[in-house]
Amino acid sequence: MNNTSKKDFIQGIPKAELHLHIEGTFEPELMFEIAKRNHKKIKYNSVEELKKAYNFDNLQDFLNIYYEGAGVLMKEQDFYDITWAYLEKISSQNVIHTEIFFDPQTHTERGIPFGTVINGINEALKEGQKKWGISFKIIMCFLRHLEESAAMKALEEALDYKNMITAVGLDSSEIGNPPSKFQRVFERARKKGFLTVAHAGEEGPAEYVWEALDVLKVSRVDHGNHSLDDENLVQELIKRKMPLTVCPLSNLKLKVVKNLQKHPLKTMLQKGLLATINSDDPAYFGGYVNENYWAIAEALNLSEAEIATLAKNSFKASFLYEKTKREMIKGVNDYHRQTML
Ligand code: ADE
Ligand code: ZN
Repeated sequence: MNNTSKKDFIQGIPKAELHLHIEGTFEPELMFEIAKRNHKKIKYNSVEELKKAYNFDNLQDFLNIYYEGAGVLMKEQDFYDITWAYLEKISSQNVIHTEIFFDPQTHTERGIPFGTVINGINEALKEGQKKWGISFKIIMCFLRHLEESAAMKALEEALDYKNMITAVGLDSSEIGNPPSKFQRVFERARKKGFLTVAHAGEEGPAEYVWEALDVLKVSRVDHGNHSLDDENLVQELIKRKMPLTVCPLSNLKLKVVKNLQKHPLKTMLQKGLLATINSDDPAYFGGYVNENYWAIAEALNLSEAEIATLAKNSFKASFLYEKTKREMIKGVNDYHRQTML
């Protein structure tokens, strides 16, 4: 299969996205527009200047700019607009289901009410479902560089919006902030009926992935790259059918991998891990979900069958009902079969 037809194959295949920070979809043009209407200053003078700053040496380098960008979001309409822009994008990429993260503490710490944030995001997602049929779940992430007590406060606020939130997650600066720091808040979240996920093994060691599994009792591991350093962990992840939400362009831009040829995705698939492809923070890392599929398929010379496996994995690993998962997986199989005719 040549590269053009592989690109078409990826474009058309139905897929889900499971690792996407809504604040990471904030494109520079929209950032300037929203900053202007909110009378907020951005450190950079133009879109071009801002884009030039998107050169990261590591996760923290990126997070500094990402939090600064998110700082211009003030009103419900702002949260609606970034979510809508993301949906417009993925509606053209055959993403039929999305499970998005948001970071409430990034906003509540600046005095923005929790409801302003989640209502804006949720309204756009509902409108998007009506317009494009894209189903969705919302996951609220705790910022791991802050204290557990701050996460607990965010969880208490979230209880008023429980019907809108499927799961809690853990993101931000990984090294030095292990999952075990958040044992009690995750325990309480599970008691209240939330599912749990956590970023682990992005920059941090395999040990953090063990903690995500055993202490936070996650249903998915976000990233999980460093799991491959520990063969016992790999076997455990396989045994548990634990999904990994892998983000190739993010790994490249944050220097988690030297180049995409060295990316562990193919090894993950060959070992039988339930890996999925996602965009993480597409406005900062140079591509939405299809660009991630394209880049990694080209770098690792993935076959059509491997690409179809990744798309099926995205539904298997989702928080959809089993019946819906089966229907969506059938859609992938039907698509794959048709392209072979
Ligand atoms: N917040 C947004 N993107 C992130 C990432 N890749 N890792 C940790 N925290 C994040
Ligand atoms: Zn992430």
